[in-house]
Amino acid sequence: MEYRRMGKTGLQLSVLSFGSWVTFHKQIDDYVADELMGIAYDQGVNFFDNAEVYALGESEKMMGRVLKNKNWDRTSYIVSSKAFWGWRGKSNKPNQTGLSRKHLTEACHEALQRLQQDYLDIFFCHRPDKNVPIEEVVWTMNVLIQQGKILYWGTSEWSGVEIMEAHRVAHQYSLIGPAVEQPQYNLFERNKMENEFLMVFRTEGMGTTIWSPLASGLLSGKYNIGISEGSRFALSGFDWLKDRWMKEHLLEKVKQLNDLASNLGISLPQLSIAWCIKNPNVTTAILGATKKEQLLENLKSLDAVPKLNDEVLQQMEDIVQTKPVLPEH
Ligand SMILES: NC(=O)c1ccc[n+]([C@@H]2O[C@H](COP(=O)([O-])OP(=O)(O)OC[C@H]3O[C@@H](n4cnc5c(N)ncnc54)[C@H](OP(=O)(O)O)[C@@H]3O)[C@@H](O)[C@H]2O)c1
Repeated sequence: MEYRRMGKTGLQLSVLSFGSWVTFHKQIDDYVADELMGIAYDQGVNFFDNAEVYALGESEKMMGRVLKNKNWDRTSYIVSSKAFWGWRGKSNKPNQTGLSRKHLTEACHEALQRLQQDYLDIFFCHRPDKNVPIEEVVWTMNVLIQQGKILYWGTSEWSGVEIMEAHRVAHQYSLIGPAVEQPQYNLFERNKMENEFLMVFRTEGMGTTIWSPLASGLLSGKYNIGISEGSRFALSGFDWLKDRWMKEHLLEKVKQLNDLASNLGISLPQLSIAWCIKNPNVTTAILGATKKEQLLENLKSLDAVPKLNDEVLQQMEDIVQTKPVLPEH
């Protein structure tokens, strides 16, 4: 396993990590979660990602049970949670969502209980909250750090401007600013990582824990032969995700990428994940898996990175044609 420092911080994250969105509680039980986290940890994965909203709190409870059962040295792994949507779904009342001091503080306490942890290594603002002053967010996160309840804080799917506003406030009051952003990043979703955030990387040295490296499974290639029972796009309540990705022009590109991967002697998931971590601004790519075969295959992506030479990268660009166009001078 390779480890990368998270932005300007001292924290070292495994370049491949493991998350629980959709899978924990909705698709897999404690037994499989235990098996998958065990495989990941044994191969050097040290970061496990979660959020209050995943399976409405049940995902954190499941991960908490697994961590307790594993009894790994607490100093050997990093666990995160995120606040924004609350965990009560349609029953959420005012103050049970968003980024107010009240919700961030209570969400942190509740996540610690569900995960059975004394502290979170990273606590993310899952989305920006336009209704809360940025000063309130930054002060709250700073206080949670001072209280020892969280060690680092980050953002997820914030714009470059919103992240820089947080840094402006942090600099103004000598507070600890966001150290890491969690954006989507894969061969079909590139603008934030390869355009919008470039100046933030340069000025603030932000780490990134990127999500959906396989575009929810589209970049495994399996959807080119239809939507099989039990796969993510077949789940009820996820039509929006299926509609987002199951598009003819994308499936055609996936087919061509699959041919390229075969020629290189690697699988398409390995090619797609290796491509993500080839970007030095990626601290870690969070993997998702419902089966141990998937995880074992995806963890081998590290071995595929050296195969992505300039020629291969250009072939990939020619296929996907998603590279953000930046002004030249
Ligand atoms: N901050 C945010 O807003 C946000 C949003 C989304 C995700 N995340 C984080 O990022 C993590 C990863 O995201 P993701 O789960 O969307 O990642 P992903 O790698 O794009 O998709 C993972 C899913 O693809 C399928 N899959 C994976 N490997 C496969 C393989 N080798 N062959 C065939 N199918 C395979 C599995 O689904 P099936 O078996 O069900 O088909 C698996 O659960 C999440 O767990 C979460 O921690 C964060």
